[in-house]
Amino acid sequence: MKSRDTLKMAAAKAALSFVPDRQYIGIGSGSTVDIFIQELAKSGKPVAGCVPASDSTRDGLLKAGLKIVDLGTGYPLGFYFDGADEINSEGVMIKGGGGALTREKIIAASSETFICMVDESKVVDSLGHFPLAVEVIAMATKHVSAEIKKMGGQPTERQNFETDNGNIILDIEGLDLTKASKVESDINNIAGIVSNGLFSFCRCSQAIIGTEGGVDFKVFQKN
Ligand code: A5P
Repeated sequence: MKSRDTLKMAAAKAALSFVPDRQYIGIGSGSTVDIFIQELAKSGKPVAGCVPASDSTRDGLLKAGLKIVDLGTGYPLGFYFDGADEINSEGVMIKGGGGALTREKIIAASSETFICMVDESKVVDSLGHFPLAVEVIAMATKHVSAEIKKMGGQPTERQNFETDNGNIILDIEGLDLTKASKVESDINNIAGIVSNGLFSFCRCSQAIIGTEGGVDFKVFQKN
């Protein structure tokens, strides 16, 4: 049986074929993205510059010798490359396991095409086994927690963690995510929320899935 890292590597390598020459691209965050950055650097593809979704991605890109630009320079981006914690059959994702969800969503929203690279363990029939991360301004923690409980969720504050934006993360379990767009909007409407890790409005355009049997490509309808 292949390891998850091997499957992530297969997905990341396959994603290289979508990297356009001499254009700015968005780069997400997480272990799959870290592999993608290494492979991108090795490939020698002529990328004009990368917009990173986290401080850690920025550091990784610089270390790999790739050029960084800010979103203002690159906007709008043709392609955004990122991983996910869960992805369903419509390309809706849960993201934010690494806490970089807000910048990830900003860059995804600023990009024409979102290429999601995952190993097959991330593909789910129904979203929500992985806790939903919500970035919150610290003073709003009690209020947001109370509102989330009213929605049926169980929030837990991520310990010893501060986002790149200086905020806290609540990890939510128990929410019914069947109507993902409604839940995404409802959470966004709570005062004190910065953003949440449901990506239904910014769903991916294409998933590249590393599986035991090879790499699968899935194309999704735009919403
Ligand atoms: C980071 O905040 C996340 O959204 C990541 O994209 C997600 O957690 C996937 O990470 P891995 O590639 O490490 O599984």
